Amino acid sequence: MAAAARRLLLLLAVSLAALAAARAHNITDILDGYSEYSLYNNYLSQTKVCDEINGRSTVTCLVLTNGAMSSLVANLSLADVKNALRLLTLLDYYDPKKLHSLHGGSELTTTLYQTTGDASGDMGHVNITNLRGGKVGFASAEPGSKFQATYTKSVKEEPYNLSVLEVSDPITFPGLFTSPSAASTNLTALLEKAGCKRFARLIVSSGVVKTYQAAMDKGLTLFAPTDDAFQAKGLPDLGKLTSADLVALLEYHALPQYAPKASLKTMKGGIPTLASTGKGKYDLSVVAKGDDVSMDTGMDKSRVASTVLDDTPVTVHTVDSVLLPPELFGGAPSPAPGASVDAPASAPAPETSSAPAPSPKTDKTKPKHKSPAHSPPAPPADTPDTAPAESPDGDEEADKADNKNGATAVGMGIAAMVASVALVGATLL
Ligand SMILES: *[C@@H]1O[C@H](CO)[C@@H](O)[C@H](O)[C@H]1NC(C)=O
Ligand SMILES: *[C@@H]1O[C@H](CO)[C@@H](O)[C@H](O)[C@H]1NC(C)=O
Ligand SMILES: *[C@@H]1O[C@H](CO)[C@@H](O)[C@H](O)[C@H]1NC(C)=O
Ligand SMILES: *[C@@H]1O[C@H](CO)[C@@H](O)[C@H](O)[C@H]1NC(C)=O
Ligand SMILES: *[C@@H]1O[C@H](CO)[C@@H](O)[C@H](O)[C@H]1NC(C)=O
Repeated sequence: MAAAARRLLLLLAVSLAALAAARAHNITDILDGYSEYSLYNNYLSQTKVCDEINGRSTVTCLVLTNGAMSSLVANLSLADVKNALRLLTLLDYYDPKKLHSLHGGSELTTTLYQTTGDASGDMGHVNITNLRGGKVGFASAEPGSKFQATYTKSVKEEPYNLSVLEVSDPITFPGLFTSPSAASTNLTALLEKAGCKRFARLIVSSGVVKTYQAAMDKGLTLFAPTDDAFQAKGLPDLGKLTSADLVALLEYHALPQYAPKASLKTMKGGIPTLASTGKGKYDLSVVAKGDDVSMDTGMDKSRVASTVLDDTPVTVHTVDSVLLPPELFGGAPSPAPGASVDAPASAPAPETSSAPAPSPKTDKTKPKHKSPAHSPPAPPADTPDTAPAESPDGDEEADKADNKNGATAVGMGIAAMVASVALVGATLL
């Protein structure tokens, strides 16, 4: 009796777990099963491009064998490797059948490099062409690019969400490998150029820039408030802080780990900052909606506006408001911090369209030369795969992410159910 109940419960638990697992892909986990792509997989993790891939519901990864990968990375900074990996990630579903039957023999597609990298113009679009002899080639849509990358074999197909295809070579074009690297970057000069002069001055005058530099080897994520953020109405007078508190405030604007935007989105709970003293003090948390990511101090939220440096393990983001830790500003009786919680002037809502980076997926994500004639008539089964790359604006993207959060919530609910079923099982025995 007990054994039968146990078997039944086990079966139930296993099928529920399988259901939950089916709701999200994990590219790291998938490639773990293929030692010939271990270098590629390793770089996906180091650069956190894996988080960008897992955040997409429709994606094709063009993977390189260890041989091709090691010659690609030989002389590159991780910032450049990251962009190369993004250019190999197509935001559409391609299986061998679709590759070999392109309407008109070629098609343009969008890549992660176009939506998240340093692309301008058509750089982040990839032209897939049926070459002579039955080969399928991939090249940047930049004029003059060569079809050096050709399809070799299919590794994994999960219609119509995730496809993993092996290609012979990386996709490159002149100018791809020119990302600013942390090693050769002057942090204060970079911040000044990014419109964060006030913040740059403060970190130099307080000496906190040295703390940042010391953390750069092991991992550093900087949230630099823009000069506008320091003009915000209701911002407490920072000149009145003791120098110890000013240091704490500035250290609060940095995480001792590498967290590009796509990875911030996946972070749950309190995230320690350089100011953290344990027990959750001076921690930050993340609020994400679609492509919008905000840092939450517990008093206020500040939107992550743009990424001005991304070279593993260092990334620098600009933020729309100064991050005010409740440990310094929570108890103040002055109207300032309290008011700043709701005052729109001090905390631009994620919806405001003034800042440059996060959601302009409008024309940037869409291949400019793509004419309707090149789009194959979508068979019914293909419908889901074309939608994401084509979505005309950020809202749809946000809705989709909401759906995904919903799915995750469902998944977690299922996980909780599995846990309680297992518990009941244990008590039965
Ligand atoms: C994906 O899989 C890897 C390896 O199995 C694991 O370490 C990682 O935590 C997983 N990521 C997510 C988001 O579940
Ligand atoms: C697969 O794609 C569909 C449609 O875009 C989406 O609803 C679903 O969540 C995706 N599944 C995964 C595992 O991402
Ligand atoms: C890397 O740089 C070294 C020295 O600068 C050079 O000899 C080598 O050919 C380069 N390797 C590649 C793959 O470009
Ligand atoms: C792809 O490139 C080939 C060769 O340069 C060109 O003939 C073709 O028109 C391009 N396809 C698209 C869809 O732009
Ligand atoms: C970095 O830039 C700042 C201002 O842009 C300059 O004052 C400083 O000397 C530079 N530091 C180094 C090490 O070049």
